[in-house]
Amino acid sequence: MSSKFNDIYQKSINSPEEFWGNAAQDIFWFKKPTKILNKSNPPFYKWYEDGITNTCYNALDIHIDLGKGSKTALIYDSPITGNKSKFTYEELRSKVSKFAGALKDLGVNKGDRVIIYMPMIPEAVVAMLACARIGAIHSVVFGGFASNELASRIDDSKAKLLVTASCGFEPGRTVEYKPLVDEAIKQAQHKISKMILFQRKGHEVKLNAPMEISWEEAHANAKDTDCVEMNSNEFAYILYTSGTTGTPKGIVRDIGGHIVALKWTMKNIYNIDEDDIWWSASDIGWIVGHSYIVYAPLFKGCTTVLFEGKPVGTPDAGAFWKIISDYKVKSLFTAPTAFRAIKKEDPEGKFFSKYDLSKFESLFLAGERADPDTIKWAENLLKVPVIDHWWQTETSWAISSNCTGIEMMKTKYGSACKAVPGYDVKIIKSDQTLAKPNEMGDIVVKLPLPPGTFPTLWNADQRYKENYMSNYEGYYQTYDAGHIDEDGYIWIMSRTDDIINVAGHRLSTGAIEEVLSEHQSVAECAVLGIADKLKGQLPIGLIVLKAGVDKDNETISKECIQMVRDKIGPVAAFKVAIVIKRLPKTRSGKILRGTIRKIADNVKYKMPPTIDDPAILDEIKQDLIENKILNNG
Ligand code: COA
Ligand code: AMP
Repeated sequence: MSSKFNDIYQKSINSPEEFWGNAAQDIFWFKKPTKILNKSNPPFYKWYEDGITNTCYNALDIHIDLGKGSKTALIYDSPITGNKSKFTYEELRSKVSKFAGALKDLGVNKGDRVIIYMPMIPEAVVAMLACARIGAIHSVVFGGFASNELASRIDDSKAKLLVTASCGFEPGRTVEYKPLVDEAIKQAQHKISKMILFQRKGHEVKLNAPMEISWEEAHANAKDTDCVEMNSNEFAYILYTSGTTGTPKGIVRDIGGHIVALKWTMKNIYNIDEDDIWWSASDIGWIVGHSYIVYAPLFKGCTTVLFEGKPVGTPDAGAFWKIISDYKVKSLFTAPTAFRAIKKEDPEGKFFSKYDLSKFESLFLAGERADPDTIKWAENLLKVPVIDHWWQTETSWAISSNCTGIEMMKTKYGSACKAVPGYDVKIIKSDQTLAKPNEMGDIVVKLPLPPGTFPTLWNADQRYKENYMSNYEGYYQTYDAGHIDEDGYIWIMSRTDDIINVAGHRLSTGAIEEVLSEHQSVAECAVLGIADKLKGQLPIGLIVLKAGVDKDNETISKECIQMVRDKIGPVAAFKVAIVIKRLPKTRSGKILRGTIRKIADNVKYKMPPTIDDPAILDEIKQDLIENKILNNG
């Protein structure tokens, strides 16, 4: 069927080089690429391999060159601290260029890695862009991760320098970063050479010179620094994400493809123009924050909002409406959990009616399944389209969406709409054949992936190939399962690995199991994500004790919960660990996690034919009832 969207989509699939060659005309290059796609070494594809550009130049300098330096680039609003500020493109470049000089003074050069472990403050954005300016590779670590996770990222990236702040603020709690960073530095085998710390007013901490220096000291002799010329295939950043084991995967992003693709999405997916105000309510520690708080809106040259707050509790369930109204936000991008939290606190939308949202045009949701109830509630309240779209850290931009800047499509509740231009999405069944419409299977994307997606994993080409590109020859395996209907709408139903989504945060149950197994009384354990009305999923731990343990169950359970908080971080939201007698397994010894999850969620399950002892399932059900876990969702 011919439509504007279909025509563009087909062109992107049938002639990707022409399509992305044209899109590449829209960004700034020191040297334009003549080779659009190198396909000679699959699955390692190279976009724009002879292009020379710079991420920061495209985010800031180009707009100043074009006479838009006095336009607002960044609005910072922190209901937690009461601080607000605005930065024009010129002001932001000035800060970035100075901090880039500071990094250079401290020995950071092109290709060096810099860890950024910071709260949602403008200095975090400055640090990211300063790295980009001098060609250093940043690796931002989410503030809700504990020292252990930070240490593993320092070790894997072999970072030269770490940038942090004295603290972050969570509702009702100050997150002291310095002790967490100190502990991570102690734990890491690799030694960083310097730490730069931004002192938050009223929360200054003591620094140990000469290794630790303040943000101000770092700037003492810093000079303005120009953008360095970077090859398109050099790396912009590493963002670690949960893998199927405790070892996180370093997703890397190459430079040229990232700029081209992200700039393209702002108009085509989100319908954002240069004069618009855009807000992504996420955290810079996640991919949504990288792509849509920082990079895409700045590449587009519009205004982006940096919000240090929560959908509820900072101070109330009207916080989102206030930001939209105060800054005349055109579109908001957030996780469904945020809307479930607002709906829970203010189901009738009493706060909403206090604000003027006349400039607001659309709401985009991603990060986890958007339940139809929440979408309908938001549509009724906001009276604007609510768009569920699907993507991953690996891709950095949406794989499927309603491309509102091309053509608005109808909503099918529960579906994340159609494949976006660039992505040839297919469903493959367990017998390795392609599924017909509405048949379930693994969701895969035909190679090559479009620009802006991950060209490899940090220092792990083999893991990239084996993990993502080997199970289905010629396809990228998304590890999501679902189906595509007769109209081409994609329905994401579940993950096929041990990843769970807690409040839109991606966590590995395997990583939590690794922590629990370290408890001296634990013989074996299983962690599963069970349905939760607010956060989508919540992890619960089932623990079997070693013989002869004489500690009481409650103490062991509390210790396990604390261990997960200490080793992974509060973001794991791990609050339930119950001691059980034994775990249900197959005859070959595999724990039947899927079956336990179904029991916990109170949905129908088939008795697994390979189960070792069916009676255990009744025991587990009883344990879950006693612990008030059954039918939680
Ligand atoms: N630094 C330190 N700790 C953090 C943190 C950060 N940046 N972000 C979250 N945490 C902590 C929280 O304080 C909480 O700790 P607690 O156990 O002491 O209460 C814990 O991690 C779990 O946080 P969260 O999952 O955010 O739950 P919450 O109950 O504090 O808040 C919501 C619930 C719905 C308000 C919140 O999850 C939210 O805003 N979700 C939106 C999701 C989102 O933006 N996802 C990004 C991907 S698009
Ligand atoms: P992350 O890498 O943290 O962005 O998490 C990616 C995973 O989140 C995907 O593989 C999906 O499992 C899930 N996800 C993201 N967006 C959606 C969506 N719109 N619907 C369902 N699941 C989603």
